[in-house]
Amino acid sequence: MRVLLAGATGAIGRPLTRALVGSGHRVLALARTDRSAAIVRGLGAEPVRADALDRDGLLRALDGIKADAVIHQLTALKAPKRTLTADDPSNLLRAQGTANLLEAAGTVGAARFLTQSLVLGYGYRDHGDRLLTEEDPFGVRGGNVADHVITGLLEAEDRLFDARHVAGCALRYGVFYGPGTWFDPTPGSRTIPVPVGGGGVVPWIHVDDASEATVAALERGRAGQAYNIVDDGPSTWGELSDARAASGGGRQVRLPGWTLRLMVPYLGALMLDTRLRVSHAKATRELGWTPRHATHRAGLGLA
Ligand SMILES: NC(=O)c1ccc[n+]([C@@H]2O[C@H](COP(=O)([O-])OP(=O)(O)OC[C@H]3O[C@@H](n4cnc5c(N)ncnc54)[C@H](OP(=O)(O)O)[C@@H]3O)[C@@H](O)[C@H]2O)c1
Repeated sequence: MRVLLAGATGAIGRPLTRALVGSGHRVLALARTDRSAAIVRGLGAEPVRADALDRDGLLRALDGIKADAVIHQLTALKAPKRTLTADDPSNLLRAQGTANLLEAAGTVGAARFLTQSLVLGYGYRDHGDRLLTEEDPFGVRGGNVADHVITGLLEAEDRLFDARHVAGCALRYGVFYGPGTWFDPTPGSRTIPVPVGGGGVVPWIHVDDASEATVAALERGRAGQAYNIVDDGPSTWGELSDARAASGGGRQVRLPGWTLRLMVPYLGALMLDTRLRVSHAKATRELGWTPRHATHRAGLGLA
């Protein structure tokens, strides 16, 4: 397929571009700068110079270009703001970015559209030990600082599922680890704050596994469906962070929960309040996908 990929230089975008090219797809990658254009060329994609938030410029850049599918992997999470508001840059990419890319799909004649979503859309709260599935309510706000994220995720999914001109799938990824992520195992990569005691439990996914699942969804995903893309080993933030350190990767700083919450209230909701386990059975059944790295210890070369 000819695939228009938005976010090809990002934490998932890079391995995804490699995986798409490796599976025989041709990738047209949005690039805002010369640097991004050079990166995507190096990954085997053809750059299309445009900013996804500039609707007119995007549609102009795509004039005369044809593609079979569009993949939305745009976020701006490198430096989460202390407080999240509706105009948070990632939410803008979820709202306006999705709207513009859906219009772009019409321009290039794409019949398929995949979008990045997130398992945290099930809610930043204690879900107990049950494995949640795609049948569980998604987008339920908890009256806390993370509500704008939930709203952004839900609106992006709804906007896609409401679009009549494309067959859309939402990929509800677990928390990424691997090269280029917050939990980059490369020596010298960024120091991450983690709560004393390890904090809550979340589902994880190595970016290479997330990329393979995305290729599978492109080829076999059913229209209007969401898929949980997670590994089999949900764990506390502390366990993942310890494993990353043991694998020779970046350092962590352990902070009392109240300090973490005071510093960045969103991290309190994310790392302290959330206990979440979800099932990838639907992705396995319908996409024929299972994670190569069943747990983060395996993904970090420790198991
Ligand atoms: N499920 C998860 O856990 C999850 C999901 C997403 C991100 N993250 C984390 O967030 C960290 C930082 O990621 P990030 O959010 O900064 O994303 P990123 O991984 O750096 O990727 C963002 C991508 O979006 C592109 N982009 C952003 N705004 C754009 C626009 N207006 N038009 C066109 N392209 C645009 C960027 O392109 P340029 O080359 O032009 O900048 C880049 O390719 C990562 O380390 C990752 O761990 C985690």
